[in-house]
Amino acid sequence: MCRTSLTQFLIERQRAGKINADLRLLLETIARACKAISTRVNKGSLGGGHGSAGSENVQGEIQKNLDVMSNEILLEANEWGGNLAALVSEEMEDVKPTPTHYPRGEYLLLFDPLDGSSNIDVNISVGTIFSVLRCPKGVTVPDEKCFLQPGRDQVAAGFAVYGPTTQFVITVGDGAYGFTLDRESFTFVLTHEKINIPEDTAEFAINASNMRRWEAPVKRYIDECLAGKDGPRGKDFNMRWVASMVADVYRVLSRGGIFMYPRDSKNKDGRLRLMYEANPMAFIVEQAGGAATDGTTRILDIQPHKLHQRIAVVLGSKNEVERVSKYHA
Ligand code: AHG
Ligand code: MN
Ligand code: MN
Repeated sequence: MCRTSLTQFLIERQRAGKINADLRLLLETIARACKAISTRVNKGSLGGGHGSAGSENVQGEIQKNLDVMSNEILLEANEWGGNLAALVSEEMEDVKPTPTHYPRGEYLLLFDPLDGSSNIDVNISVGTIFSVLRCPKGVTVPDEKCFLQPGRDQVAAGFAVYGPTTQFVITVGDGAYGFTLDRESFTFVLTHEKINIPEDTAEFAINASNMRRWEAPVKRYIDECLAGKDGPRGKDFNMRWVASMVADVYRVLSRGGIFMYPRDSKNKDGRLRLMYEANPMAFIVEQAGGAATDGTTRILDIQPHKLHQRIAVVLGSKNEVERVSKYHA
């Protein structure tokens, strides 16, 4: 069987003029870090990854050991490659410019090192999400402002899911592609060519414990799904909620569906972070033929105003996302 590795895939993208050598190396570096994180996740308690790190991140969330380890793996992998000008992590308050003793590259990297932290200790899928932007021309020391670009300006985005298999999904703007980690060769192998999300679905994902706090359009949409065959939708719906965005979005990419973390009366701006959760996932989902909105605005068109900004997210099968947008209009 002829197998395409991530390395070959990226070299072909470079030959086709879609990416340059620096971006290719940066994406290789991120993938290598994800493999290292996958190994730590697999070790579980034996690798010291379980349990709380006893510290809080900038969002006031308790950090798990694996949050801290994954962040360190990504930092260490990315600081000396020469492709990056600066990076931003969910686990760090400020922008981290590339140390001055290494060459500074032309890209900016944002990541959620470990998505789905609440699932680490209970052996449910977790993952890593990343987004790549171009550093504005002429900037030598990038600051927060350099990062505040709308998601449509991303040059690449991707995520890894550490589940029963480790999956790596990537886009450089010409479709979304999925790779499976082959544990024997420790190589990502292309297994999901040009992912395509079905336009229609009968499966939704939302944390229903927030129902009493939802806004009316979201409540209406879910009520209609729950009414099933006898309701206005005329069909039964199924519900899933993993509580790891990586796993929920991976399912949507695999068989369609709608994923929602709307704003509510408690999470007034939404729960998920725009720059390293919503934007990269929206880019991938659109590249796979789906849609992503905050209810009223296409996620990729939102102008960010701060690094760790939160946002409402509705993404997945196009016709369902459009329906939710219509209910908001
Ligand atoms: P993180 O672990 O990086 O903080 O992100 C968790 C996110 C996301 O993965 C998931 O969809 C959501 O939080 C789960 O939220 P609930 O616990 O409210 O269900
Ligand atoms: Mn997350
Ligand atoms: Mn996280």
